[in-house]
Amino acid sequence: MAQVVLQGVKKCYDDVEVIERLDLEIREGEFMVLVGPSGCGKSTALRMIAGLEEITAGEIVIGDRVVNELHPKDRDIAMVFQSYALYPHMTVRENMDFGLRIQKMDRAEIDRRVNDAARILGIEEYLDRRPRQLSGGQRQRVAVGRAIVRQPSVFLFDEPLSNLDAKLRVQMRAEITGLQRRLGTTTVYVTHDQVEAMTMGHRIAVLKDGDLQQVGTPLELYESPANLFVARFIGTPPMNFLPGRVAGDGAQIVSEDYGFDLPAPLRAAVRGRDGAEVLVGVRPENLRGDRREGVGATTTLRFQVTLLETLGHEVQAHGRLAGHELVAKFQPHNTPEIDSEVELHLELDHLHLFDAATELRLSEGE
Ligand SMILES: Nc1ncnc2c1ncn2[C@@H]1O[C@H](COP(=O)(O)OP(=O)(O)O)[C@@H](O)[C@H]1O
Ligand SMILES: [Mg+2]
Repeated sequence: MAQVVLQGVKKCYDDVEVIERLDLEIREGEFMVLVGPSGCGKSTALRMIAGLEEITAGEIVIGDRVVNELHPKDRDIAMVFQSYALYPHMTVRENMDFGLRIQKMDRAEIDRRVNDAARILGIEEYLDRRPRQLSGGQRQRVAVGRAIVRQPSVFLFDEPLSNLDAKLRVQMRAEITGLQRRLGTTTVYVTHDQVEAMTMGHRIAVLKDGDLQQVGTPLELYESPANLFVARFIGTPPMNFLPGRVAGDGAQIVSEDYGFDLPAPLRAAVRGRDGAEVLVGVRPENLRGDRREGVGATTTLRFQVTLLETLGHEVQAHGRLAGHELVAKFQPHNTPEIDSEVELHLELDHLHLFDAATELRLSEGE
């Protein structure tokens, strides 16, 4: 186990700057997910930790060593790739023990580690097969097994589940988090999938265009997104947004089509900002057809229903509120007609306010 620290890490490919300055601390034993859209620099960041890419400036620390100048094999890390990167001509066992054989480890120790890993991953029966005789899920287990047997201080995963079908992805998600919990190995896991990030990470680091947007636990990101980008990126279906203006000395949000009072904590967030343009964020579960108990103050808004998606335990209703496209939730046996206009309950204690100009969250204490 080891901490991983990135300090002022910068990356340019030729004269193109991909990461301007990345500062991130991954704690010993932590499962950190790096998430962001395709092209935002996730793999680049991971490959710099692995030593597969040079860093243009800054410092990377693994454990208590600055590893900038260290070769990948000397960094005490093991990486799992989306493509599995197995050797096709080797058996599963040979794929798994290759790295250990190169280190000239004792044969009995090699066998013990490979057999343990194979048992943990449920691939004991396949040890003598070649990769092409395995399914995608089995191949990915072999790739994970190859990382485990090295007993590294740090696991690095780069979108390891992207090539698997949806059901297997969910299963492997649980296997990888279970494995990490048992082994306690510091892990940096890259994905573009926010659901994967939310379900797997102790903490999540959100990247956009090489810039760190926010680092926090899944719940911190969900409940207090630092800016519009994180608010839009985390949560499915995504957060809705309504434009408005602060009025009444921070007591209300108003627009041409709607107006409502703010609860006390949000008033504090916009105090002194009378007249400021804001975006009001509300997640679909807090914009509802039913009036829930125990959710504090609500206000009602008129909603034109255009589409219903029944999920069984709930129904997602798409529609328009004063010309804005929104998604709301309904109880399954109490759904509106398509094309009808209905009342929605906006749960005021769960609103998120963002400065329309800076796109930053407005929160109490700022
Ligand atoms: N070897 C390379 N040479 C030049 N540009 C690269 C190279 N690798 C990645 N890039 C660029 O760096 C940016 C980040 O890429 P990458 O780290 O692969 O993103 P992600 O993994 O988040 O999808 C992209 O704009 C990509 O085109
Ligand atoms: Mg990538």
